This record gives sequence, structure tokens and C-alpha cells, in this order.
Amino acid sequence: MANTVLVTGGAGYIGSHACVELLQAGYKVVVVDNLVNSKTESLKRVQKITGKALTFYEIDVRDKEGLADIFAKESISTVIHFAGLKAVGESCEQPLNYYHNNVYGTLVLIEVMCDANVRQLVFSSSATVYGESVHAQYSEDFPLGAINPYGRSKAMIEDILRDLSAADKLTQSNNPWKIALLRYFNPIGAHESGMIGEDPNGIPNNLMPYVSQVAIGKLAQLSVFGNDYPTRDGTGIRDYIHVVDLVKGHIKAIATLEGEKFQSGGCHAYNLGAGRGYSVLEIIETFEKVTDKKINYKFSPRRAGDLAECFANPELALKQLNWKVEKSLDDMIADAWRWQLKNPQGYS
Ligand code: NAD
Ligand code: WQD
Repeated sequence: MANTVLVTGGAGYIGSHACVELLQAGYKVVVVDNLVNSKTESLKRVQKITGKALTFYEIDVRDKEGLADIFAKESISTVIHFAGLKAVGESCEQPLNYYHNNVYGTLVLIEVMCDANVRQLVFSSSATVYGESVHAQYSEDFPLGAINPYGRSKAMIEDILRDLSAADKLTQSNNPWKIALLRYFNPIGAHESGMIGEDPNGIPNNLMPYVSQVAIGKLAQLSVFGNDYPTRDGTGIRDYIHVVDLVKGHIKAIATLEGEKFQSGGCHAYNLGAGRGYSVLEIIETFEKVTDKKINYKFSPRRAGDLAECFANPELALKQLNWKVEKSLDDMIADAWRWQLKNPQGYS
């Protein structure tokens, strides 16, 4: 029988793409999501793309009894934990909401997993956990130092998961935790069918959905935050990664957790990024080339908290997960644009 993967936050942007890849790889998929930032339409489309069914429970991961019932009903072997809030600015305004949702939600999940004896976990972490560094290319052993409540919630969860794994050695557990902490850089793009993609509420915070909405005429003008950074053209540089490449990293992570490296348990962090960065102006220029649309933009002051340049050293993921990105920036933009054109109002 196929292994069953529980996907928390599976109706969301990255989660829905993960469901497609999991179903196509032959896994059974159970999704839990409270729909705070998503719609069930994404899951209907996942099933349409794959021609396969998944099981969906509308539930908050903080509902311990409800979650325990699901573990009792489904024979889950692995959990991919996407559920959480992710807007940096909002996290500064509502820190308690972020800590409660992200940190407490994870605590409840791992307590239920302990009780159900399921100890294989892939966690959605973020490059935001790193502190500012003199090197723009970040490796997993760089010091951590998140600078906002969202990033700190991810760093706290990483600490909790490392402690949990370390305790296995002290108690000589015969069913040790196997945990992959996946630190995403900047996921963009959409499934190549154009049926699922990113559907932000209100005005987007992130560059790619903002650019797409300017191109389609929903927003008038992009503000480029800062043109005086010490970068090749003065604008911020980030490591953009196609969401389908990103979720393939999760499938590879599951295989690695089940392999020799994790035979006696462990908790390891992996960067999921391409290993090279693009500036905001390079994104605009490539978007215009790929879509044949003009992007109306102006330069504005720097956005508080932004780094000049940040990109991944993805060598560890290549070595241990046997994973690397396959898609180009042109692919990311073409797919994001196809999704935008086919779904000008998102899933609504
Ligand atoms: P998303 O908001 O589209 O998806 C998150 C999903 O979790 C949503 O469907 C939401 O309804 C659900 N959810 C939130 N709180 C929940 C709760 N308490 N119980 C049940 N469901 C809950 O976000 P995404 O972009 O798909 O991100 C997925 C994960 O990846 C998040 O943990 C995010 O922090 C992390 N991440 C995202 C990015 C990014 O740029 N998108 C980068 C790094 C890390
Ligand atoms: C990219 C570049 C901006 C918008 C954020 C979170 C991070 C992670 C991914 C979850 C920067 C510039 C942006 C705009 C602009 N999420 N920009 N005008 O800030 O690298 O990362 O999303 O974990 O935690 O912080 O991504 O897309 O917001 O910005 O000029 O309207 O585009 O200054 O240089 P960021 P982003």
C-alpha cells in the first residue's frame, strides 16, 4: 500500500503544489487546513491536474483532539508541515497571533505525532531565520538571527525540533525523530497547467505577485524598494526558486529521511534555493521579455528590514537530498504569468 503523507496547510500556495507532486509520485495525501489563507478550490484543481483523489479535513492544527482523530483514522507515515502565517509586516503588528499559530500550532502537531508514534517530519522553514551576514551566499551553518516575529517563529520551531531530536539520543529512543528543516529562499511561479498558483489576499507584499498584478492592470505601478544598495544595479538581489522545484525538494527529503543518513534519526537543515540571485531590475526586465508586457515602475526608498543581497548555497541539498533546481527564471515567470492570465481574480 502507498505511504500516506499528511500535508498541513495543503490548500495554500506551496502546499497545493506539493499535493500534486506527492500524488504524482504515488503517495496517498491527507490535507489539513483551516483555510485562513486559502480556498478549497485549490484542492479541487490539484485533483483535476493529477486525476487522483486526496482526503481533506478543514481543521486548525491547534485543535489537538481533532488532529488526534485524524491520526487515528489515517495511517500516516510522514508529515509535511506547511500550515502557518507568513506575512512579515503583519507579524510585526500581530506577534502573538504569529507565535500562537506558528509555534503553538507546531507544538500541538508534534505532541499528536508523538502520541501516534509518527516521527517523520518535513518542516517549512525559511531563509529568514539567518542573521545578516557579510557573505551574501548563505550556508546552513551560518549563524541564525531572524529580525522579525515571523522569522523568529520559524527559528523557534527549528530550535524545538532540534531539541526533540537531541532528546532521542539521551533517552535512547528506539523510534527516533527524523526531521528535515527546509529553508526556502524566494518561491515564485506556478504549476505549468496554470490551474494552481499564488493567490495573495489584497495587495501583494512580495515582488513577483506585485509585478504580475501591474502587468495585468490590477495595480498601477510597482515601487522598487531602493536603488542605492551595494549590488550590481543598486536594487535588491534574491534567490528566486520555482515552486515546483521547491516541492520536489520535499519529495526528495522524504526519501532521504527514509534512507541510510537518517537511519538512527536526526534533525538537519537544508537550503532550498538555486544558488544564484537576480536583482529587482533583472526580474522586471525578464518579465517584460517573457510576457511582452511593459512594467510601470518607480524607485522608492528602501523597505525596512530588507537585505541588499541574499542567495543560497544549495550544495548540502544536492549532496544529501540529491536535489537541485531544474527550472530557469524564464520558466518561473512564464508559469506565474500563465496562472495570472487564466485566473485574474485568483481562485475567487
Ligand atoms: P499559504 O498561506 O499559501 O499557505 C499556508 C496554508 O496554511 C494556508 O492554506 C492556510 O490556510 C493554512 N494555515 C495557516 N494556519 C493554519 C492553522 N493554524 N491550521 C491549519 N491551517 C493553517 O503560504 P505558502 O506560501 O504556501 O507557505 C507555506 C509555508 O511555507 C508556510 O509555513 C510559510 O511560512 C513557509 N514559507 C513560505 C515562503 C514563501 O515565500 N511563500 C518562504 C519561506 C517559507
Ligand atoms: C524581493 C525583492 C524587495 C516588493 C519575503 C519574506 C521572506 C520569505 C519570502 C517567507 C526585495 C523587492 C518587493 C515590491 C520591491 N517568506 N520588492 N517592490 O523580502 O526577499 O522575502 O518573502 O518565509 O520571509 O521576507 O521577498 O518578494 O518581498 O522581495 O522592490 O513591491 O523585491 O525589496 O529586494 P523577500 P519579496
